Amino acid sequence: MCGIVGAISKNRNILPILITGLKNLEYRGYDSAGVAYLKNNKINIVKTSGKVSKLENKLNKSDESNIGIAHTRWATHGKATSVNAHPHRVNHITIVHNGIIENFKEIKEMLENNNYSFKSSTDTEVGCALLNYYYEKFKDVDKTIKAFMDKVMGSYAITMIIDSDLDNLYVLKKESPLVIGISDNTNIVASDIRAILKYTNKYYILDDFEYAKISSNEVIIKSIKGEILNKELHTLDLKDNDNSKGHYKHYMLKEIMEQKTTILKTVLPFIEEGIDSLMTLPDLTKYKEIFIVGCGTAYHAGLVAKYLFEEVTNTRCSVYLASEYRYQNNFLSKDTLTIFISQSGETADTIAALKLVKSKGYPTLGIINVENSTISYLVDTCLYTKAGSEIAVASTKAYTAQVALLSILVHSHGLRNKTISRDNTIEVIDEFKSIEKLITPLLNDKDTYLSIAKNIYKEEDIFYIGRGLDYYLSMEGALKLKEISYIHSESYAAGELKHGTISLIKKNTPVIASATNSNLNAKTISNLKEVLARGADIYLICDDNYKDDTFTIVNIPRASEFVKPILVIIPYQLIAYYTATLRGTDIDKPKNLAKSVTVE
Ligand code: F6R
Repeated sequence: MCGIVGAISKNRNILPILITGLKNLEYRGYDSAGVAYLKNNKINIVKTSGKVSKLENKLNKSDESNIGIAHTRWATHGKATSVNAHPHRVNHITIVHNGIIENFKEIKEMLENNNYSFKSSTDTEVGCALLNYYYEKFKDVDKTIKAFMDKVMGSYAITMIIDSDLDNLYVLKKESPLVIGISDNTNIVASDIRAILKYTNKYYILDDFEYAKISSNEVIIKSIKGEILNKELHTLDLKDNDNSKGHYKHYMLKEIMEQKTTILKTVLPFIEEGIDSLMTLPDLTKYKEIFIVGCGTAYHAGLVAKYLFEEVTNTRCSVYLASEYRYQNNFLSKDTLTIFISQSGETADTIAALKLVKSKGYPTLGIINVENSTISYLVDTCLYTKAGSEIAVASTKAYTAQVALLSILVHSHGLRNKTISRDNTIEVIDEFKSIEKLITPLLNDKDTYLSIAKNIYKEEDIFYIGRGLDYYLSMEGALKLKEISYIHSESYAAGELKHGTISLIKKNTPVIASATNSNLNAKTISNLKEVLARGADIYLICDDNYKDDTFTIVNIPRASEFVKPILVIIPYQLIAYYTATLRGTDIDKPKNLAKSVTVE
């Protein structure tokens, strides 16, 4: 979603830093962009709806500046117009802002009563006016920021330029990520360190209710009380952050292919030394029930874990959508562990659910991909997936890394509660160690996926079905297809079709299924026959060399319950990918979607 970059330098033109930073944040999703910088001793603001390249074209090529702020906006309050785009400026103050000022209506009214008027429909302009109001009142930045933090409800990462103090940038933060990158005579602010890695990998992380004064060669970070803080300087490992597309046409395809290594990389620390390594994972036997919370694909990974917890280790597990979890009776107790799954670690709904659990004092565990992200800080214990940067909006390698890590976690639990034998563990560890060999033929089977894609890409409705674990996997398959191809695709428990949905099946409706559980396959296949009899075209992913000329069949190797979900999902990912290529959609940045959903 929204992205921030700001820079101040003694000896460099910061405009290329701002534009490069914004381009690196594009993948997160946005619909307008803007920049403010010092030009001829005045703040010059250039904004546009649409892409960063459009903004770049609007900039005067010969302009240079040593202080500036920039932003990509994903519209929430007000449409994606250039008026609503950031930066916003009110009298002496210019800001860019990520987050949402929840009480902006009340603040706006107060400011209107104090003769402020507004050009945009954004909460950010109101925040900017409030900063200006306090600055004119106190004539002091510390007091201004404290008053702002006391007054504003909601979330913000703000970068600010004050006309009377052009040797400094100011940043303030609550619940939206913000880092300060350190370079030679140049300091760079960003909502994600990965946006500015070209310039530095050394950075400070701002925590909630902290702010900083940043000049070209100094960073002073303070608490809301105005105390100077001695913060840790972090260094990001560059080798794990390859953001190039390589020879691939799309990041999504590159990331699907990267699963050859990311799955093993994620689980290796916990299987390297066999059972001893597994025992380094948290002990879950003290909990009576496991709750799992996440959104979208992360929620789907949670469902796979539910299946494994319940069916293999006989442990109750409930999975919740984070956006629903906060508003329902959540039956928390000291005997429950709540696991939060998130690729970005910044998803607003997941953070809100986590804060709720924490506020009640109950234990939490995170399965997170992005190190040093908000959720990774908030949880009691954090386990990292090692998928590396995921740029495509549609999650692929992060999902399989989540599933793999959860599988290993469940496995260690099964060993501890004696529902899994040591022999079984050795087999599963071997499977994970040979995961590249298992998945490479599936990843390389382009002809099969492309021929399925050719049959389905003109359709507007596609059904996904399965039973048990296959049902949960079909949910992820349907999500992948709909988000990147814009074909309406829904998944259903196979046995449910005849309770309503089958009425929608007509001649040539594609029905895609997986059947990989020998106890349930016969039932799924009879459900497929029912839709076949009503004219549907059937595509079946299965692992037992099932033969049926009336179906198109994708065979996957046999594997344990722990590795099988990974094998099933690869054909689903690639069917979605090739279908979207035939429809010519913007695969890496599908419309209306953002990579990191930082609003509730
Ligand atoms: C779909 C997808 C989304 C995310 C969801 C949660 O491909 O990527 O459904 O899974 O927005 O995001 P994270 O995992 O960052 O919390």
